[in-house]
Parts: sequence; C-alpha cells; structure tokens
Amino acid sequence: MIHSRITGTGSHLPARILTNFELEKMVDTTDEWIRTRTGIERRHIAAAGETTVDLAEHAARRAIEAAGLQPQDIDFIAFGTTTPDLVFPNCGTLLQQRLGCRGAPAFSLETACAGFMYALSITDKYVRCGDAKRALVVGAETLSRITDWGDRSTAILFADGAGALVLEPSEQPGILSTHLHSDGYYKDLLYCGSGVSKGFAETKPLMSVSMVGSEVFKVAVTTLGKAVDEALGANKLGREHIDWLVPHQANIRIIQAMAKKLELPLERVVITVQDHGNTSAASVPLALDVAIRDGRIKRGDLLLLEAFGGGFTWGSALIRY
Ligand code: ACO
Repeated sequence: MIHSRITGTGSHLPARILTNFELEKMVDTTDEWIRTRTGIERRHIAAAGETTVDLAEHAARRAIEAAGLQPQDIDFIAFGTTTPDLVFPNCGTLLQQRLGCRGAPAFSLETACAGFMYALSITDKYVRCGDAKRALVVGAETLSRITDWGDRSTAILFADGAGALVLEPSEQPGILSTHLHSDGYYKDLLYCGSGVSKGFAETKPLMSVSMVGSEVFKVAVTTLGKAVDEALGANKLGREHIDWLVPHQANIRIIQAMAKKLELPLERVVITVQDHGNTSAASVPLALDVAIRDGRIKRGDLLLLEAFGGGFTWGSALIRY
C-alpha cells in the first residue's frame, strides 16, 4: 500500500511587520482589544509589488530543499490562494515557471482559509494512486490586498505569508486521512464582494473582505469540533493519541476552544496567530513549518491539521509525520 508522506516543509513571511500599536493610529482600536479578542500582536504585510507568488516561491524552494530535491524534480503543484497574482494563468503555473519544473500539472484553487487543506487532500490522492511522485502543496496569500484598512473589524485580522510542503510516496504511513466540507448557505457571512464575472461596475470601489465576525466565530467553533471528531473516528483513534494540533490561525479563542475539545494542553498546540495574524490559506503550512523547524514536531508524531474559511469551507488532515 502506498501512502503519501511529508518529506519537506518551508515558509516565508514578508519583511514588513505591522504591530497593533501602528493599527491604533490607523483605526479606532487598541492593542489590548486586539490581543484579548484575537490573540494577534503583530502581522507581516507584503511590500508594494510583492505578490502571492513571490512569497510562495521562497516557501516552495525551502520545502524542496528540506526534502532533498531540486525544483525541477517537482511533478505536481497544487496551490491554495484567494489572492492570486493574475486572473490567469493560475498561481500554480506562475510558480512552476519560476521553479522550472515544466510539464507537471499545476493549478490553484480558491477555498479561502481552507485552501491549503483542499490542496493537500487532492495531492494526497494523486500521490497515493501513483500519478504524482514529488508533489508540491502550497498555501500563500496577500490578504492585505483585499483588506479595507479603514474597517477596524477586519483590518486587525488579516495578513500575508506563504507555506509549502513536499509529498512523496512511502511505504510508511504519512497522511492517514483528509476530510473536506463546504456549505455555501453561509456565503453572506464572509466574502469578498468583487469578482470578474460580476463586472467591476457592480462591485464595491474597494475590493475588500466583508465579515460578520461573531457569526463566523460561532459556526467555526462548532464545525471544527465536528471535523475533529470525524478525523479521529475515521482512524479509530482517540484524542489522547494526538501529539500536536496545528490549527488555522484565525483567532486564539477558536484555537483554545479546539484545544479544550481535544483535552490538549496549549503546549501541544502550534500557535502562531500572535505573530502571523490570519494569513488564510497560508496559515496552517506556515504554522507547521515553524514547529517542524524549531524542533517541536518530530518524526513519528501524530498531527491534526484543520482550517475553516469563507464559503464556508473547511477541512482536516490527520498525519503521522
Ligand atoms: N477594536 C475595537 N473594537 C472593535 C473592533 C476593534 N478592532 N472591532 C470590533 N469592535 C467592536 C464592535 O464594534 C462591537 O462594538 P459594540 O458592542 O459597541 O457594537 C464590539 O467590538 C464587539 O464586536 P464583535 O464583532 O461582536 O467582537 P467579537 O468578540 O466577535 O470579535 C472577531 C470579533 C475578532 C472578528 C471575532 O468574531 C472572530 O475572530 N471571528 C472569526 C473570524 C474567522 O475565523 N474568520 C474565518 C476565517 S477568515 C477567511 O476565511 C478569509
């Protein structure tokens, strides 16, 4: 039986750091409000002209290097993003051109904050069936480009970054399961109102995220709770087996609720929201790479990854690292 296994991870953040204290000067908010309601203290923001694919390229090269491969070795690219450089070509092919792995299938998919989970799930299936052998999975965003910096309810949350990993076939268990879901019924609670086919005349002058934060919060907590049960149940494992929870970094209170549900001490949860903010599809691979590189996550650990975003879309992955 072929499994897909993570053989390398990488991440990248733009150099510019925007603190809560700077935000205090931009909108009617306080560092104290942001920290207590969200857990965020600072976030990274892309420089003018720095794009999603620019960030992704750095993360991808680090992941490929960690896997002991060359960029030309990559034979499959799945790229989760809501903030593409262009309408087309897709970010996967833009990244492919930079990496030089010509001919490999490359695509991007837009499932908001769950974009990386969707990309991971699809790639896992390609690797397990033998159609991909050195696959690159990316989550990268420049959410700052669709953030209304005058709206205090969203300006404090979103940020930029990229994370990537390489999946290769293995006889050892790696990804044990992935589960994806969506519910378009909730489309009005979290969306970006601009779109190509809607026509620019009908869209808001500023292409920005609209969110009913408190409602998103409630659905996220209950939905992710069920996703956690689903992942464990499908593998006949209990909460006690999980070594690390690597959650979507949207809000520390949602993360704490998941840790409580799993009866995991916060020391076993990878938390980067204080430094990264909500980087949407980049958040989970960024957190994963941070904890692998600083030595917290070790080979053989059981990891539970989960993310929830606009749509709503959500997903989980249970992984033997
Ligand atoms: N500073 C100060 N006060 C603020 C701010 C701010 N930045 N933002 C809102 N407030 C005020 C509101 O106006 C409101 O005031 P009122 O009581 O006088 O009306 C009060 O604070 C409470 O507002 P709520 O929206 O109820 O605050 P809440 O505790 O729910 O926190 C937050 C808001 C942080 C947005 C939270 O709801 C949240 O994190 N939601 C989930 C976000 C999420 O997970 N998104 C999913 C992924 S994102 C994606 O897919 C792109």
